[in-house]
Amino acid sequence: MARTFFVGGNFKMNGLKESIKAIVEQLNAAELPSNVEVVIAPPALYLDWAQTHLKQATVEIAAQNSFDKNTGAYTGEVAVEQIKDVGAKWVILGHSERRTILNETDEFVASKTKFALDNGLGVILCIGELLEERDAGKTIEVVNRQIDAVVEKVKDWSNIVIAYEPVWAIGTGLAATPEDAQAVHAAIRKHLVEVIGAEQAENTRIIYGGSVNGKNAKSFNGAADIDGFLVGGASLKPEFVDIINARQ
Ligand code: 13P
Repeated sequence: MARTFFVGGNFKMNGLKESIKAIVEQLNAAELPSNVEVVIAPPALYLDWAQTHLKQATVEIAAQNSFDKNTGAYTGEVAVEQIKDVGAKWVILGHSERRTILNETDEFVASKTKFALDNGLGVILCIGELLEERDAGKTIEVVNRQIDAVVEKVKDWSNIVIAYEPVWAIGTGLAATPEDAQAVHAAIRKHLVEVIGAEQAENTRIIYGGSVNGKNAKSFNGAADIDGFLVGGASLKPEFVDIINARQ
């Protein structure tokens, strides 16, 4: 089964009503390929706003985080039920900015992943190594550990998209080379075969994130295990449409 190309736009903590509306309207006006799944992740406050203005059938909305409990006394958290209530279909979990700045552990990310999946959201599960881990030759060890924490809690991976985002490539302008990224993606898929089985491993999308832009996106074409992108900075700009079209 061919894996549908997947392009996510992670707005991070950026945008106000006007600029987010402008990005959505730009997507509405663009001619987007029907064979690419596109998901945009505005800040939680603007999920409803983005969904309200979105007119593109092939674009869906994601939250940037969710909690591992139902609605209740959890000040400042966002419930899966609330995310779904405003029409979003996805949530980004395990982003390195949350793992490193907010100290989220592998176990907490796994717990949130299980809860989101069990309650009907798709999960964009971010994994990736720090520069010092890469320099120490520990890239595969780190991403496997991050994956295994989720495997322990989740057996059905059909609604997970893995985003491999090497931390040293995020926001630095220094994207991984297509060869380096492909090598890690292939290693991730090989590990998935071992832990969730060949069929699920073959069907799971593994997308790349880290300084992807309108210029370099096409260079990843031909990398057999790169099934799309998770885009930060460039998803706020018109070049996001070029990234969506990179595989055409
Ligand atoms: P940049 O594309 O800005 O490097 O960010 C990548 C990212 O973190 C997406 O989640």
